[in-house]
Amino acid sequence: MKEIIINGKKELSGTIRISGAKNAAVAVIPASILSDEEVTLCNVPEISDIDSLEEILKFLNIDVKRSTEAMIINPKNIKNKPIPERISEKLRASYYFMGALLAKYKHVEMYFPGGCKIGSRPINLHLEGFKKLGAKIKIEGNKYILDANKLKGNNIYLDVASVGATINIMLVATKAEGQTIIENAAREPEIVNVATFLNNMGANITGAGTSVIKIRGVKQLKKGFIEIIPDRIEAGTYTIIGSLIGKNLKISNIIPEHIESLTSKLKEAGANLIIEEDSIICKRHKNLKAIDIRTYYYPGFPTDLQQPMSSFLTQCVGTSKIEETIYENRFMHIPYLKSMGADIGIKNNLAIIKGKTHLKGSSVTATDLRAGAALVIAGLIADGKTTITGVEHILRGYEGIIEKLSNVGADIKIEEKTCQTS
Ligand code: EPU
Repeated sequence: MKEIIINGKKELSGTIRISGAKNAAVAVIPASILSDEEVTLCNVPEISDIDSLEEILKFLNIDVKRSTEAMIINPKNIKNKPIPERISEKLRASYYFMGALLAKYKHVEMYFPGGCKIGSRPINLHLEGFKKLGAKIKIEGNKYILDANKLKGNNIYLDVASVGATINIMLVATKAEGQTIIENAAREPEIVNVATFLNNMGANITGAGTSVIKIRGVKQLKKGFIEIIPDRIEAGTYTIIGSLIGKNLKISNIIPEHIESLTSKLKEAGANLIIEEDSIICKRHKNLKAIDIRTYYYPGFPTDLQQPMSSFLTQCVGTSKIEETIYENRFMHIPYLKSMGADIGIKNNLAIIKGKTHLKGSSVTATDLRAGAALVIAGLIADGKTTITGVEHILRGYEGIIEKLSNVGADIKIEEKTCQTS
């Protein structure tokens, strides 16, 4: 078992370079199997979710070469087999193989996906979309068996602007006959990245990034290339850290528009940010003031930054409120922040944070990925030593977090915890 150990209250200066976006890469990789030829993906982050997807690709007999420069995937010898539950349950994004294999073979057997336990996270909209495109679905326990005689374009309205459903439907529609229109589509930048990749391979998709996406089905996808966009959630996490303990801390390789909802809120609280073309310089501000946050679909405030933001708000003077509107169970980090000295009350989907509080190092557990990020932030600003377990969640989504933070002056390390036997 691994644990992260932080000795807090160190000022950070230097540059943190942002890696490729997890939530784009985890969709682009399954999308690549739609091609009949080799595809090249650049800027793929080195995180354990990508290791799990590589395991799935190899299980499907797909040739994968991975280096720091690129991930090269050749699906020429692919075999359509049910992906074992022990692999697919490692991450949420395994569900993109449902769309990709259905598009390619008109038959797929898949288990319910894994991922962070932050709510019920149903996949009904994915399945309804597949049905509208011609699939028949049988559910046997945890297993979904999808078959289609023919995949045919259709008009699909999403009740919720779901990222996963939008991408999965886009994958199937790419190989369906005729035109598909997705209405109330999710507008996240990761969707644009996936659509660009599909188009580079020969797909015909317009409107990605808006609420109406039009897809004209094509027969074949060929060689393709994509550069994964910078991870806006990683960028946001480090910008929050820089606003608290930065001394000219530069967050580089970012697309500032992608985190505008965050930077405008940080500025409202008084944060000292200089926003440049592809970077942000953060300086600590001693007199931050309370603000209210409401999570919403892009371009609203991202739910994935709500937990990191709650640690920030413990340092703001006054009463801040966070309303979580996307997931039912995304406050699991709050008891741990309280154990460090935060003053936070929870009422249904509302967290009420009173500040400014003095945080003290403690032993805490990351229950999910962004809960882990929130606790790393808390550890960095707390007095004394913080020990975080549940580290595997953090490593699923933050490339080189220990190196990136220690390079700019944080006292942070990761250790293998040995079990004591008596
Ligand atoms: N929803 C449904 N039915 C569905 C699909 C979604 O009701 O069929 C609901 C969900 O329960 C949720 C809302 O729609 O309330 C939004 O869910 P969405 O489908 O957009 O989320 P997702 O695709 O499962 C992705 C990211 C999440 C991120 C959300 C929202 C990946 C692999 N995951 O999840 O990332 O929170 O979009 O932006 O792309 C993370 O990185 O920490 C993370 C959880």
